[in-house]
Amino acid sequence: MPIDIRLTAVPAPAGVSLAAHLAAETAAADDGADIVVAVQGAQTAGLDPYLGSPAADVLAACDATGKAGEVTPVVMRASDKPRRLLFVGLGDESIADMRKAGAALGGRATPERGMLAAAVLGQPAGAVRAFAEGLLLGSYRFSLASQAAANGPSEVRLLVPEGDEQAAGAVAAARKVAEAVGLARDLANMPSGRKTPAWLAAEAARAAAASGLTVRVREPAELAAEGFGGILAVGAGSAQPPCLIELGYHPPGARTHVVLVGKGITFDSGGLSLKPNEGMKAMKTDMAGGAAVIAAMSALAGLGIAVRVTGLVATAENMPSGSAMRPGDVITHFGGRTTEVLNTDAEGRLVLADALAYADTVLEPDVLVDLATLTGAARVALGGAMGALYASEDGLAGALLAAAAQAGEPLWRMPLVDDYIDALDSPVADSANIPHSGRLRAGSIEAALFLREFTGGRPWAHLDIAGAARASSSSGDVKGATGFGTRCLLAWLGGLSPA
Ligand code: BES
Ligand code: MN
Ligand code: ZN
Repeated sequence: MPIDIRLTAVPAPAGVSLAAHLAAETAAADDGADIVVAVQGAQTAGLDPYLGSPAADVLAACDATGKAGEVTPVVMRASDKPRRLLFVGLGDESIADMRKAGAALGGRATPERGMLAAAVLGQPAGAVRAFAEGLLLGSYRFSLASQAAANGPSEVRLLVPEGDEQAAGAVAAARKVAEAVGLARDLANMPSGRKTPAWLAAEAARAAAASGLTVRVREPAELAAEGFGGILAVGAGSAQPPCLIELGYHPPGARTHVVLVGKGITFDSGGLSLKPNEGMKAMKTDMAGGAAVIAAMSALAGLGIAVRVTGLVATAENMPSGSAMRPGDVITHFGGRTTEVLNTDAEGRLVLADALAYADTVLEPDVLVDLATLTGAARVALGGAMGALYASEDGLAGALLAAAAQAGEPLWRMPLVDDYIDALDSPVADSANIPHSGRLRAGSIEAALFLREFTGGRPWAHLDIAGAARASSSSGDVKGATGFGTRCLLAWLGGLSPA
């Protein structure tokens, strides 16, 4: 149970003050749950009798500023008992600040003590949704134990105006999205000793069964018969066979067909071009793009998305061994294009190339989007807070940038510099997987240009999420896998759906 909060929307009748709601709710459910009230508007909420002093004075005495995510505990008196009240700062009440406020609370809810939150009463649906998503995801903890905690989840009740279908719907949608992000995080946080390509395929099949998706897994024999040379080459050094996972979602009446492609390297040692340990120790998350694809697919039906979506996850373990691909090898991808492998650590593009070529020539989608922890260069350029976006068309770029911003997973558009493609020239293949000469070093752009050759000129976007897929302890939000990309994909696909 990665998300440890059971969140419900509680209707609050219109025209009744916040204080009256709290009085009614605390009397009805005298369970000691923390009461959560926004700093913004607290002075006019009628709380003074419960606090014993004007709310403004209480806030001032506690140095509460209202900054997004600031939580100030005070003691109030309700039903003649002391009760903990958490003032939460909503900042400027933007989507981003509402998300931050929710996340700060999510980290504090416990199974012993839930929350009754009046913090979003009267907020627009978008703000309610961001707050609820933040709350749920802020409670995320990865655990290797498969059982839910014995004491169960924390109960959080969110007051929403009675009859406000949009607010109630926002809470329900937030639950579905957060569950998907939790799945992406769980998959990426799993240590590689357990997370083999076959394990990932089994998890994808499990998610598919639970959400009504079709699933097909191509094993090495089929991959060989159909010519998926990139996936096979990358997986050749591992004792764990590679595979290609294909998930299908085809709602009736869908006109647009989107193919999502995810990099699913379950561990990236670099292969014979071995990484130093420092660079290797986080490489269990090198399938985070694939995890985001599986996770987003798992939420499509629940969110009522009316677009046909096919999800491809090219999964392999990149290991050095006597059977591993070598620098200098030439491999043939699905469809016949060849690549000279100059560095076996540039493996993500090799597996993605097969999947993109297959998508282009067999699935023939209207739009192709791939997500990959592809280059350390993208992480150096943008750090952990943003993903790098490459897109073949401005319209697609704009739609993805807007969805990303709305979802709280910002992207930054990078250029597909045509001139740099020459760097990938090869004397023995259609292209090399990295430049022969080290003079031009725009690593993330070169990787994107390599991929573009496999997209058949279709509308295509590439998200290099090497930085954002994983958060260090210093970023207050989560530690470990972030599930980055899942929310952006769902927001974008939701926007493609005919209303
Ligand atoms: N999985 C890595 C990229 C990566 C690096 C992701 C750091 C997350 C954090 C990828 O397979 C890789 O090794 N890329 C190489 C490419 C190079 C050999 C051209 C890199 O970025 O160093
Ligand atoms: Mn690598
Ligand atoms: Zn990799």
